[in-house]
Amino acid sequence: MKNTKNPWLKLSMLLFIWFSLNCQLSFGADTISANQSLSANQTLVSSGGNFVLGFFTPGNSSNYYIGIWFGKVSEQTPVWVANRETPVRDIDSSELKISDGNLVLFNGSQVAIWSTNISSNNSSSVVAVLEDSGNLVLRDGPNSSALLWQSLDHPTHTWLPGGRLSLNKRTNQSQLLTSWRNSEDPALGLYSLELDPAGTNSYIILWNRTRQYWTSGAWDEQSQIFNLVPEMRLNYIYNFSFYSDENESYFTYSLYNREIISRFIMDYSG
Ligand SMILES: *[C@@H]1O[C@H](CO)[C@@H](O)[C@H](O)[C@H]1NC(C)=O
Ligand SMILES: *[C@@H]1O[C@H](CO)[C@@H](O)[C@H](O)[C@H]1NC(C)=O
Ligand SMILES: *[C@@H]1O[C@H](CO)[C@@H](O)[C@H](O)[C@H]1NC(C)=O
Ligand SMILES: *[C@@H]1O[C@H](CO)[C@@H](O)[C@H](O)[C@H]1NC(C)=O
Ligand SMILES: *[C@@H]1O[C@H](CO)[C@@H](O)[C@H](O)[C@H]1NC(C)=O
Ligand SMILES: *[C@@H]1O[C@H](CO)[C@@H](O)[C@H](O)[C@H]1NC(C)=O
Ligand SMILES: *[C@@H]1O[C@H](CO)[C@@H](O)[C@H](O)[C@H]1NC(C)=O
Ligand SMILES: *[C@@H]1O[C@H](CO)[C@@H](O)[C@H](O)[C@H]1NC(C)=O
Ligand SMILES: *[C@@H]1O[C@H](CO)[C@@H](O)[C@H](O)[C@H]1NC(C)=O
Ligand SMILES: *[C@@H]1O[C@H](CO)[C@@H](O)[C@H](O)[C@H]1NC(C)=O
Ligand SMILES: *[C@@H]1O[C@H](CO)[C@@H](O)[C@H](O)[C@H]1NC(C)=O
Ligand SMILES: *[C@@H]1O[C@H](CO)[C@@H](O)[C@H](O)[C@H]1NC(C)=O
Repeated sequence: MKNTKNPWLKLSMLLFIWFSLNCQLSFGADTISANQSLSANQTLVSSGGNFVLGFFTPGNSSNYYIGIWFGKVSEQTPVWVANRETPVRDIDSSELKISDGNLVLFNGSQVAIWSTNISSNNSSSVVAVLEDSGNLVLRDGPNSSALLWQSLDHPTHTWLPGGRLSLNKRTNQSQLLTSWRNSEDPALGLYSLELDPAGTNSYIILWNRTRQYWTSGAWDEQSQIFNLVPEMRLNYIYNFSFYSDENESYFTYSLYNREIISRFIMDYSG
């Protein structure tokens, strides 16, 4: 694989964003409990104000989606989308709520068009909490430590600090990033970034889920870089790490400076 273009470098340079704070005072809650619902004009705000969840509409689209965006970046920048394939149009009567132990989006006809879709106890104590890391988690009770579901395990086109791009070695299932279709349509686009299922410890970008056209090269544990991305040697922002055992492998990253706002995206241009 020839490394003619280097999207990695481009990604880090373009998408490393360091916006001035634009704090909007907001007193929204960070939790949806049973018997509560979120409608069009409401948002959840994470405890420290870093992330906001609510209905949004990308660009000039007339479709509405449930998304999570940065709370301290002035331009609305979605980092996660729930119903990316199933938008709602009847915004005034759609609502997001806990139903049968899941977080469910109902359209105006009360049809469930998106769900966290876990089999659960149908417990009435299930709550959805938007954490300050941007992770939306479902727990059985506000103080329960057991996670039933989390959005970090279902990334869309954005990889946030703490997220894992993983490969389940038992099933060969990847947790991958998939581009939007275009700037106004978050539906599954043509490009995806994933850990190579062949076990090479490298990231690959696929076109249309099948054709590989880029690789990061293998992770080099000693120098902590991907060996076709030598620019990573200059990295003083991201703490990347690779984990592997008999069942799974994943890459994850954190930021040395937690004040920095950062994301990696798989862009619709590929
Ligand atoms: C939700 O409402 C039902 C009946 O309307 C009630 O029995 C239940 O206790 C409520 N749950 C919570 C968590 O308030
Ligand atoms: C939000 O929308 C709902 C339903 O359209 C309406 O009943 C409610 O008054 C609105 N709340 C605010 C704060 O605008
Ligand atoms: C949205 O519509 C406005 C006005 O028609 C136009 O100027 C703008 O370029 C459009 N934005 C996108 C992303 O297409
Ligand atoms: C879950 O509980 C609700 C109300 O308690 C009930 O209407 C619903 O049928 C239950 N669903 C399942 C799958 O048991
Ligand atoms: C809700 O979704 C169902 C199934 O997709 C669709 O038939 C129905 O028209 C939708 N309702 C509204 C008000 O959009
Ligand atoms: C939930 O999962 C089942 C099986 O994987 C699928 O058939 C169904 O469409 C899903 N429902 C929703 C609302 O996503
Ligand atoms: C079901 O409920 C029991 C008791 O509340 C709890 O111990 C168990 O972990 C729950 N299971 C799931 C899958 O939520
Ligand atoms: C959860 O924990 C908080 C503080 O630790 C406490 O105030 C609250 O009562 C607890 N809630 C439940 C349902 O146990
Ligand atoms: C996973 O995919 C790789 C490459 O396609 C293949 O070599 C390997 O045998 C697969 N493993 C399993 C468990 O299916
Ligand atoms: C992507 O692949 C599918 C078959 O897997 C094919 O039907 C579709 O036409 C391809 N898309 C493009 C844009 O070539
Ligand atoms: C870098 O990440 C690793 C693995 O997640 C972690 O153990 C380590 O503490 C991190 N280092 C710094 C300086 O944050
Ligand atoms: C891998 O999965 C098996 C079966 O679930 C489990 O027994 C084993 O402890 C796991 N290995 C590791 C390193 O977690």
